[in-house]
Amino acid sequence: MYLSKARKNIKLLLRDSVLEINKRVEPVFSFAQLEVEILLAEAIAKDRLFLYKNPDYILKAKENRKFKNYLKRRLLGEPIAYIRKYQDFFGHRFKISSDVLIPRPESEELVEQALHLVLFSKPSQLHKNKVDVLDLCCGSGCLGLSLLLARPELRLDLSDISANALRVCRANAKTLLAPSVGTYSYNIYCSDLFMKLPQKKYDLILSNPPYVLLDEFSTLTDAELNAVDRTENGYKPSLCYEPINALIPPQPKIFYKRLFIGLSRYLKVGGLALIETNPRLVAMCRQLIEEKEILLSLELRMDLNKKTRFLHLTRI
Ligand SMILES: C[S@@+](CC[C@H](N)C(=O)[O-])C[C@H]1O[C@@H](n2cnc3c(N)ncnc32)[C@H](O)[C@@H]1O
Repeated sequence: MYLSKARKNIKLLLRDSVLEINKRVEPVFSFAQLEVEILLAEAIAKDRLFLYKNPDYILKAKENRKFKNYLKRRLLGEPIAYIRKYQDFFGHRFKISSDVLIPRPESEELVEQALHLVLFSKPSQLHKNKVDVLDLCCGSGCLGLSLLLARPELRLDLSDISANALRVCRANAKTLLAPSVGTYSYNIYCSDLFMKLPQKKYDLILSNPPYVLLDEFSTLTDAELNAVDRTENGYKPSLCYEPINALIPPQPKIFYKRLFIGLSRYLKVGGLALIETNPRLVAMCRQLIEEKEILLSLELRMDLNKKTRFLHLTRI
């Protein structure tokens, strides 16, 4: 039905599209009405309020085609953020593409924690006027750029192994810092962890490295299995749309050991690293940090869902 060529008004389109979603993949799309409204508003380049104020508006042919394409993609499991090519994060709109992870709400907590540290830590810990910050594994740049927008006096480096992800990061830096770009100090590096970074020491390192485990990636929820069964055209769970190297560390133990050795070398004494990780990797991380060559002390923090997700590491 959603592929029908007939052009309908907003009221009918909303009703029929929600029915269509509910018929096909409802257990996965628990917010069908909201999702359809978002896609429809996006297709006609208006906000959702417009839909309520103009239920009789008939879409132009181009808008109609766009909406149907969006709906078709959504029905195949593609996340809304990839369809509309942006995600709001920490009050800013970040461009995204299939080359970067969709910024997550949990990671906003990491930015909040970093901001709190920059504002309130003792001068011995972070030297307030010249704070050097690194966003390691930056993807879209959402962590580092959000922090820089909040504290323009920081000196920020961002790095990622993926040249494609860095293109997105650069575009975000250009757009978000545009109003007064000259006042910001930032550099972007393509590097496998610390390998190609300049020899320098940081006051603060933020990182949301890959942390999904293989079994989490391959296990589908009941709702997803149901959707895979009910859609004939190759429904894929949302994680499958994200870049695999942003999600899964190839060998978690080796990857995290390299990360902690690098943090020991690249942090100033007393400097801090805030790392987001998988609650299931916390025990392994704790064990690695206790090894002799790792010069870090560890504090654990929970996320808003009471899961132990953040490592606060101080260079000793
Ligand atoms: C979970 S994503 C986080 C992206 C972004 N910081 C965020 O919070 O949305 C992990 C990022 O790490 C990058 N990455 C994976 N392996 C890496 C490595 N060995 N060195 C540097 N970056 C790496 C990926 O390209 C991806 O952009």
